[in-house]
Amino acid sequence: MRQPRDILVTSALPYANGPIHIGHLVEYIQTDIWARFQKMRGEQCWYVCADDAHGTPIMLKARQEGITPEALIARVAEEHRADFDGFRIGFDNYHSTHSDENRHYASLIYARNRDAGHIAKRTIEQAYDPVEQMFLPDRFIKGECPKCGAADQYGDNCEACGASYSPAELKNPRSAVSGAVPEQRSSEHYFFRLADFEPMLKAWTRGGGLQGQVANKLDEWFEAGLQEWDISRDAPYFGFEIPDHPGKFFYVWLDAPIGYMASFQNLCDSAKGRAAGLEFDHYWAPESPAEVYHFIGKDIIYFHALFWPAMLHGAGFRSPTAVFAHGFLTVDGQKMSKSRGTFIKARTYLDHLNPEYLRYYFAAKLGAGVDDIDLSLDDFQARVNSDLVGKVVNIASRTAGFISKRFDGRLAAELPDSALFETFVAANAVIAEAFEAREYSRAVREIMNLADRANQYIDEQAPWVVAKQDGREAELQGICTQGLNLFRLLIGWLKPILPGTAEAAEQFLQIAPLSWDQLEQPLLDHEIAKFKPLMTRIEPKQIAAMLEASKEDLSAAP
Ligand code: MSP
Ligand code: ZN
Repeated sequence: MRQPRDILVTSALPYANGPIHIGHLVEYIQTDIWARFQKMRGEQCWYVCADDAHGTPIMLKARQEGITPEALIARVAEEHRADFDGFRIGFDNYHSTHSDENRHYASLIYARNRDAGHIAKRTIEQAYDPVEQMFLPDRFIKGECPKCGAADQYGDNCEACGASYSPAELKNPRSAVSGAVPEQRSSEHYFFRLADFEPMLKAWTRGGGLQGQVANKLDEWFEAGLQEWDISRDAPYFGFEIPDHPGKFFYVWLDAPIGYMASFQNLCDSAKGRAAGLEFDHYWAPESPAEVYHFIGKDIIYFHALFWPAMLHGAGFRSPTAVFAHGFLTVDGQKMSKSRGTFIKARTYLDHLNPEYLRYYFAAKLGAGVDDIDLSLDDFQARVNSDLVGKVVNIASRTAGFISKRFDGRLAAELPDSALFETFVAANAVIAEAFEAREYSRAVREIMNLADRANQYIDEQAPWVVAKQDGREAELQGICTQGLNLFRLLIGWLKPILPGTAEAAEQFLQIAPLSWDQLEQPLLDHEIAKFKPLMTRIEPKQIAAMLEASKEDLSAAP
């Protein structure tokens, strides 16, 4: 038998200062489908993630709520976990960057890079809030846009005219924390010397681990020259203190990607990891035969395709096999908006709709590129109702009743049209290829073409006519057995996308969890359970209620 592949998959770590929304879910659903597909194929695949718990925004949010950052991140972690569970995101481990494992690896990676000469020290000037006694990140400075004069703009770009600038150029700058006029103060910072890694990064970029569009972007960055990266922050800061520099902290983006390793280490040490004999070094040593993949949004490519491989290399760890970037979600063609009610939180969605619908819709839209994807609410409703309810589930509801009522739930011992079954089986390979290449929209297209073919078979055979005629019992059982076998293949292929529906279908068919291999053999002479509808249609009023509730979220906010 073939050796399974050892695969580690990650999604970007969501910030621990806000709820999961449907934009985030593009990524978690995309990654989850891929991980579930690999597992169904029999690979050793591990999917880990964590909350990204450090940084100024989290520190300030906790302060605003009058609680400690630790209390804030503990509460948000619970909410995130519940949201991900609701959408059936099947993490093998969900951890936090504010953890012992992460402190260990962050310190180790820093120390190794420092000892190899990749960390520089320099004094820089920065905006300082004299009231709060803290340095201010760009987005905590507000003022008038130097280009168009619009009031209340953030320190790095203007929402009114789109100009970007440095915070020092803002007119009448104010601290967004205290309202005080910021001062310029100097402080010593630590810098990661990214340019030391240019040859390694150029080789890695061209090694096939990046999408074409992303590799081109990197070429632009190489041409512009790789800048030193400021990896330290002054107190007060919520993060890890730099071991040999009391009062200085690692910048959140230094320890965030290290959180992938920390979560994996935490998995290795868990009962589940120990039972599987999971070893950290097997996945992270320089010559590791394992595959490591990071799914991310296009906004954080710089961190994952430059800093991260460089930091790893400088510390004697392997580089990722590939980084897969996706585009941003729009709703009805526009940026998610709180006033339109299209800034939809995961929880609000779950209050009104079945998670399988969104998983399906995103899959139907996702390709391997970095293009944005649009959730068109009318199309969402039409597509789910016609494809899932009207085509796939319908096959079972048109055939299962006869098997229960007329044959004691027993399937026939033979397929009447094994050639048709073999046509379906022959699609296994192309569908698998599409999943592997993250071309989910292509996989869905193939699957729905075959669902049409299955319905056409049932239309032609008209079991409801055969059922009324004497002496055609065996024929009726055969037609329904054929229909249910085609249904079983469709459900098997859709299982990475629709894990909840697939589980319900497995219970109905009274079969063990489907794996990809099993899809080659028909299910015959086997007793099935009574059919219960696996999915209901989306009603327009559910969508309207979800949008309404999302609008209310805004008016309730301070
Ligand atoms: N904490 C960082 C990631 C650290 S990874 C070491 C972060 N967090 S985030 O919460 O802002 O975003 C998490 C992921 O969700 C990112 O990959 C981001 O691109 C993705 N998305 C956030 N909003 C999105 C959309 N509207 N659409 C699609 N993806 C989006 O970045
Ligand atoms: Zn402006």
